[in-house]
Amino acid sequence: MADDLDTLRQDTLEALAAAADHRDWDAIRVGTLGKSGRLTALLKELGRAAPEQRRSRGAALNLLRDELGAAIEARGRALESAALEARLRAERVDVTLPPTPESLSILSGSLHPLTRTTWEMTAIFGAMGFGVADGPDIETDWHNFSALNTPAHHPARTDHDTFYLPSLAGEGPASRVLRTQTSGVQVRTMLSAPPPIRIIVPGRTYRADHDATHSPMFHQCEGLAIGPASGEGSITLGHLKGTVVEFLRAFFELPSLPIRFRASYFPFTEPSMEVDIGWSRRTGEIGAGGDWLEVLGSGMVHPRVLANCGLDPRRWQGFAFGMGIERLTMLKHGIPDLRAFYDGDLRWLRHYGHGALSPASLHEGF
Ligand code: DAH
Repeated sequence: MADDLDTLRQDTLEALAAAADHRDWDAIRVGTLGKSGRLTALLKELGRAAPEQRRSRGAALNLLRDELGAAIEARGRALESAALEARLRAERVDVTLPPTPESLSILSGSLHPLTRTTWEMTAIFGAMGFGVADGPDIETDWHNFSALNTPAHHPARTDHDTFYLPSLAGEGPASRVLRTQTSGVQVRTMLSAPPPIRIIVPGRTYRADHDATHSPMFHQCEGLAIGPASGEGSITLGHLKGTVVEFLRAFFELPSLPIRFRASYFPFTEPSMEVDIGWSRRTGEIGAGGDWLEVLGSGMVHPRVLANCGLDPRRWQGFAFGMGIERLTMLKHGIPDLRAFYDGDLRWLRHYGHGALSPASLHEGF
């Protein structure tokens, strides 16, 4: 009677011993204890056995199930630690060895792609006369939203998945946030110095969002140019278009990159435009393929924002834009997953990192 159990036992133990990796192991596990596994089938048949057989057969089957279950589990653990062992051996770095020419190229550092993109943006906009401004990551609700024409209960606020911080004693409710955009630095800049203004603001931003293209912490680059509303030095929508086109073509190193301006809405600009570049949805190639991909938001600074920042909208006028630094970096270098930017995995950094002295696109030696 027990012959078939012996065979099953032997087959399973032999297969387990021969399993080379997790896949083999899992196939055995499923083939034995799974829904249509061999042992499961025998247990199901038990109901049909004659009553006098059922007892002894049942006991034998239960014993076998315990034995094989334990054997499968033990083999699984052994395979797992062997795999870990092999990985540790393969990835071991002996820090006591003297450097060799090969190891030197590995040991020397590289620029994180986000640093590199930030430097490139700074260089390209710098050549157009823009300076770099900065602001605090912990921002007041007023700078981040209200002054930018996004008062409390404005529907655009809900798009931002804001991290609100507990208010300090004496402050109103929800008066501080982790900045959701670098646009607040527009406000700080206009309040701190008279126009003309030409700044970009590369920096960290935060939103409660996490997947392959969103991270709770990411980087944006804001831009702002303010000048007289008319006469010499006045800033028009033509300047906005020229600036954005010049930047995108220099950044992607494609002098004839197709660029499209599309009417849109932002609370702090009027009119507002989203900017698309030509690419191929199929291959991901930038500048070819006949599809459009949105890369940034922009517009003429809303008169109410100017007024909130103490500038008379009849005298002053300008444009603003904002873009995601990760997004542009992913597009330029074909990086598929945003989360890898922050994993600190040396293999990824070696692959996507840049030599510190290698020239940056069209703007060398900055
Ligand atoms: N702050 C916007 C965002 O986070 C981006 C943006 C759009 C900034 C248009 C601007 C602008 O200055 O004019 O989505």
